[in-house]
Amino acid sequence: MLHYIILLILPFVVYSLPSANLIGPRTRPTRFLIHNRAEARDIDYWNTPRPDSFLSKRSDVHSVEFFTNPPSSFKARSPIQLSSPASPLFAPNENKRATAGQWENMSGSGVYHPAVTSWGPNRQDVYYMNRDRKCYHKSYRGGSNPWIDWYDLGGSLDSAPSCCSRRSGYMHVFCKGTDYQIWHRPYGGGGWGSWQPMGGNCKHYPSSCSWGGRHAAVYTSSNDNQLWGVRYDENSGWGSWQNMGGSLAGAPKSVTWGEGHTGVVVRGTDGQAWVTQMMNGNTWANWASLGGSLDSEPSAVAWNGNMTVAVGGTDGAVWMRTYTNNTGNWGSWMNMGGDVRPGTPPDVVAWGNQMEVYYTGRDGALYRKKATNGQWTTSWENMGGSVVTKPSGLAWDNGKVDVYGMASDGSTRRCY
Ligand SMILES: *[C@@H]1O[C@H](CO)[C@@H](O)[C@H](O)[C@H]1NC(C)=O
Ligand SMILES: *[C@@H]1O[C@H](CO)[C@@H](O)[C@H](O)[C@H]1NC(C)=O
Ligand SMILES: *[C@@H]1O[C@H](CO)[C@@H](O)[C@H](O)[C@H]1NC(C)=O
Repeated sequence: MLHYIILLILPFVVYSLPSANLIGPRTRPTRFLIHNRAEARDIDYWNTPRPDSFLSKRSDVHSVEFFTNPPSSFKARSPIQLSSPASPLFAPNENKRATAGQWENMSGSGVYHPAVTSWGPNRQDVYYMNRDRKCYHKSYRGGSNPWIDWYDLGGSLDSAPSCCSRRSGYMHVFCKGTDYQIWHRPYGGGGWGSWQPMGGNCKHYPSSCSWGGRHAAVYTSSNDNQLWGVRYDENSGWGSWQNMGGSLAGAPKSVTWGEGHTGVVVRGTDGQAWVTQMMNGNTWANWASLGGSLDSEPSAVAWNGNMTVAVGGTDGAVWMRTYTNNTGNWGSWMNMGGDVRPGTPPDVVAWGNQMEVYYTGRDGALYRKKATNGQWTTSWENMGGSVVTKPSGLAWDNGKVDVYGMASDGSTRRCY
């Protein structure tokens, strides 16, 4: 506890690598357990974003204008360079979704939810932040002995990681450091680069995505509650940080359906979902309110010109809303029901005409609904397991889905 207090009163001190006991017990902080179910709302409420006049009555929330033209303040540190050659890849495989009751204990002493990515067939990469504040990585490479054991990537970190792959053989892992910067470690050309400080003054864990072989980007909520993003292009290296405004209460979620598109969805300080999208590779649309009443940061998935947002509501239910590029419109919020563990958002994955949404229940089990061509199964399937974090779903190998979470003992768990 004393260590927490020191961390709170010296928020801008750059720490050297702290000892393991700085992280404290693995139990979730109390704020994760506070949950106001009295705020349960109906579909009309969710589908009617509160107007600016509502927002202006509160000093702690901001208008659309504020989201769109924020004040500036952010210290960017020097951009860094990556280098790499090329290679394409992706082939279909048999359908193989996560199976109820089929769990693997992957060990470890994690603090936050694990992050996952795949760069192609027979490949999965799993990352988590360990109690010693280092990032650990484990990969699945197919064959008769598919898992390579946990590898200590080092670092002095302070958040769940975020990872993405820009093409086969290339990936990036990002984390908030103990010095509040984003730290980045690239993998490519058969080996790991070194950790690189990217600047920033992060408040929550970052979110990264790649829209294609030569592109990556990372987004973070900063100490000013605004969204900041920085992009990597293989030809020109890392750009400079861009202030994207907003008034965020939690980590952003970035997704892309391909070249030139990125959507970022956040939980605003007013509790609503807010979104901004880039359609042409360089211009962000104004922030738009999606309404809702979110209990935690949102999750999202984008594919073939559609973008689906899935959130845990303050009523404990999962709510989902889809943007369709063909029409340029958002559909209505769908109430999916459920009993989401407070503080943990659901996760949504999609491929082809399939979609799945997972949440961690108040009882610690994982729950799933599936859709084919937008037709959802009616009841939640209890997948069993025992996790305390949000689920991290991974659609890989064109039809396989694995879902990861962290158990109360810090071990990474996988439902496959
Ligand atoms: C998970 O694995 C770790 C390491 O092997 C072990 O210490 C722990 O007891 C396991 N947890 C359960 C619930 O089996
Ligand atoms: C996108 O969403 C619309 C409306 O929900 C649906 O009709 C369409 O099939 C979706 N597109 C894809 C590629 O799934
Ligand atoms: C999105 O819509 C724009 C304009 O209608 C179109 O040019 C573009 O190809 C669409 N992209 C996708 C991925 O559907």
